[in-house]
Amino acid sequence: MMRAPQVVSTSSTTGTNGLPSKVTIYEVGARDGLQNEKAVVPVEAKAGFIHRLLAAGLPIVEATSFVHPKWVPQLADAAELMTLLGDEGRQLPVLVPNERGLDRALDLGLEHIAIFGSATETFAQKNLNRGLDEQFAMFEPTVERARAAGMDVRAYVSMCFGDPWEGDVAIDQVVGVGKRLFDLGASQLSLGDTIGVGTAGHVKALLNAFNEAGLANDVLAVHFHDTYGQALANAYAALEHGITTFDASAGGLGGCPYAESATGNLATEDLVWMLHGLGIETGVDLEALVTTSVWMADLLGRPSPSRVVTALAP
Ligand code: HMG
Ligand code: MG
Repeated sequence: MMRAPQVVSTSSTTGTNGLPSKVTIYEVGARDGLQNEKAVVPVEAKAGFIHRLLAAGLPIVEATSFVHPKWVPQLADAAELMTLLGDEGRQLPVLVPNERGLDRALDLGLEHIAIFGSATETFAQKNLNRGLDEQFAMFEPTVERARAAGMDVRAYVSMCFGDPWEGDVAIDQVVGVGKRLFDLGASQLSLGDTIGVGTAGHVKALLNAFNEAGLANDVLAVHFHDTYGQALANAYAALEHGITTFDASAGGLGGCPYAESATGNLATEDLVWMLHGLGIETGVDLEALVTTSVWMADLLGRPSPSRVVTALAP
């Protein structure tokens, strides 16, 4: 059954505890997770994974990337995967870095893309083969053509809290790049802690700075990796701030092939456990999600790093 994703969260109602009463989880396990696995997961298993994630109630499931297949061989089967998913896949977001990637997505009739920029010069070079300013020359025509074709565009900004080559990244620099990416015509900006170094106070400071720059909470999402064990605390800080879209990956799969110190994303199960404990609605069936992550962990031949998956695994 096809599920229409809501890329921009509309859930701003506040519950009795002062926190949002409902949040949108943007599931990235099939893309951010599988892009970083040594083993290439067979395309049928990827389709099965996405199908199970949707069936578990995840409202948005990012499916794959239309990047250069030599840069990310794990996702070289993007077109085959989207064809296999058929109608179920048409509304799922996919990563697209440039016009060549956009053409591939348009050929398949896809409706949601995500561009991914870098807040730092070094990571722009390593991940996109472009300088910090040059990346915009690649994104500009891509977003313009995508919007003209009626597509929805999400923008990611990476290295928001620190960069493995450059160290600290100034909040002003992150806001400058993020706002520029968003203003190209995106409906949402996802703030990536690519290497998981951020802490709760930094999260609040960055969100405040984005708000002051004119980006309200309803167009912001947070994307935490759990390298330093801070992802769930950071998610709570963002929740308290009023953010209602959270990126997470089933079973804590993930990383980034061009940032060696990056490990998995915040595990969706850990996030759901916290949110449900706070009485916040997600629409996710936790039991079905855990079963799916255990199935994927078996396929990959290693246990899920998620504490909640470990605790609840049948
Ligand atoms: P490039 O080598 O500079 O590309 O790579 P180019 O524009 O010079 O083109 C060279 C050749 O590649 C051409 O072919 C193009 O057609 C082809 P030729 O004419 O020589 O035969 N080409 C493509 N083929 C297929 N699909 C394409 C494509 N583009 C060009 N889209 C490029 C530049 C951006 C393509 C490359 O650097 C790339 O693919 N990078 C992707 C890296 C990546 O996927 N990283 C992981 C995702 S980001 C992430 O995980 C962070 C995030 O999770 C947030 C966070 O955690 O912070 C989002
Ligand atoms: Mg990521």
